[in-house]
Amino acid sequence: MTALRLGDTAPDFEQDSSIGKIKFYDYLGDSWGVLFSHPADFTPVCTTELGYTAIVSGDFAKRNAKVIAVSVDDADSHRKWIEDINDTQKTKVEYPILADADHKVAKLYDMIHPNASSTATVRSVFIIDPNKKVRLTITYPASTGRNFDEILRVLDSLQLTDNYSVATPVNWKEGEDVIIVPSIKDEAELKAKFPKGYTVVRPYLRITPQPNK
Ligand code: BEZ
Repeated sequence: MTALRLGDTAPDFEQDSSIGKIKFYDYLGDSWGVLFSHPADFTPVCTTELGYTAIVSGDFAKRNAKVIAVSVDDADSHRKWIEDINDTQKTKVEYPILADADHKVAKLYDMIHPNASSTATVRSVFIIDPNKKVRLTITYPASTGRNFDEILRVLDSLQLTDNYSVATPVNWKEGEDVIIVPSIKDEAELKAKFPKGYTVVRPYLRITPQPNK
């Protein structure tokens, strides 16, 4: 299959999970979605990733985002592993882990890279917006745990772009200045949209305070 690209419609699916059957689109509703895969249950890096994701689950909820993990083990295995995650990472995993033993979701989202492993999923992340469009894809190797604070940061950036017509500069952090998207050129529109003002460093580089702060 062709890999999913930014702007593509995220495929819908029905799959079993640690909390029962999930119909993906119904589960997401009007929320953003963060769908992320990992190689297998009872593996060390994944245990820390899933634990941390549970710890910051309130931060995803604040951004109207639902997280869903994927791995190719069955739901019974997931439920046993969740006990370990909760115990070792001092948290409570409440988001679903898809039980993708038949590789349905892994195939739809191209999460198995055969030259890395013929059976295990790689560490993929998809951010999906409320219109079900893919807005971010990342792929990490099995031995490198992802940075879930970065995923929260990208959600903030995407939501600022959608709501306020701004982009975020290198290493941007919440509260720092942002960049007015180049497509806005009309002076009246600029004044209306950016009442806090803006600095023209170059005609293509216009800086403004974060609008929702
Ligand atoms: C894992 O935890 O998934 C893992 C750790 C080391 C190498 C590969 C995978």
